[in-house]
Amino acid sequence: MKTIKEINPKGKRILVRCDFNVPISEKGKILDDIRIRMGIPAIKYLIKRKARTILISHLGRPKGRFVSRLRLKPIKERLEKYLRIRILGPMDCLKKETKEMISGMREGDVALLENIRFYKGEIENRRDFSRRLAELGDIFVNNAFSVCHRSQASVSGIARLLPSFAGPDLLSEIRNLSKVLKNPKRPLVAIIGGRKIEDKARVVKKFAKISDFVLVGNLVANALRKENRRIENRKKIIFPSSNKNMPDLDRKTIEIFKEKIGGAKTIFWAGPLGKIEEKRYQKGTTEIARAIIASGAFSVVGGGDTIKILNRFSLLKRFSFVSTGGGAMLSFLAGERLAGLEALERQG
Ligand code: 3PG
Repeated sequence: MKTIKEINPKGKRILVRCDFNVPISEKGKILDDIRIRMGIPAIKYLIKRKARTILISHLGRPKGRFVSRLRLKPIKERLEKYLRIRILGPMDCLKKETKEMISGMREGDVALLENIRFYKGEIENRRDFSRRLAELGDIFVNNAFSVCHRSQASVSGIARLLPSFAGPDLLSEIRNLSKVLKNPKRPLVAIIGGRKIEDKARVVKKFAKISDFVLVGNLVANALRKENRRIENRKKIIFPSSNKNMPDLDRKTIEIFKEKIGGAKTIFWAGPLGKIEEKRYQKGTTEIARAIIASGAFSVVGGGDTIKILNRFSLLKRFSFVSTGGGAMLSFLAGERLAGLEALERQG
């Protein structure tokens, strides 16, 4: 995999895939910006080296349609605040004017494309869409590990068309997560909660093979129960004690989970364990977080929602490694192939 260090960015139009998929209110207000902050040093690196930087990100899952609430204007404003410069955009990547505006960018300028998931071509990884995107740059840098499990135009499609390089944050994710994969200290405990259950129910079964225990939140547990199929290593999966649709972990489950966590030497965790948008359902998640910290195990935590709540309770810094990826982190740790990483590897 070629890295950003191998580029001479001066004067080049560099398309950078970022992940600014932050939690956002109904009115489009950013509720937590840690993912934006984490991406700032890489952008500064390119500005300092006089690149013409064009940032690409998604926000939410608009499924190829324009959704006003998911426009990237608030992201642009937040970037401007941290970078202390004016940014062009957000620009419609398919408009002729956008190409012209990009040609007019000066060295050190930064532009932002509009939410890339407003376009069906992105989600369906269409070749013609990847080509249109690729026409906007000379070089592609993927710095968004957290979206690498998606086979989408701005993640893998574009990497077939432009010289492509791994960004510093993506590399750091691979380096740190690889440490967990190679001879982890045991017992190894995986904790899987959150909402994106279609991704998670699949990896739980893989983790049941490699981990000593897999603790699952209510939604993931229900998805597994519904499958109604025999699950290998079922004994290693610890389900919440109630099989009702609970908005938080019940007391008995918290105690059982804590006991497993207390004996662990390596822990990885993605996805909150309750409906944390509501204060009264945050108990399970915060108690489990505190138990992980107290265990002294090597701990890896990931995913937008999980990071947000841990940050709010000032617990985030006490984990050994914070991954920006939820689904991507789990896929990587489960030994699955990630389309975005494969695309970079293909380039040597
Ligand atoms: C995430 O939040 O995990 C990433 O931004 C990927 O988002 P997605 O699950 O909607 O592809």
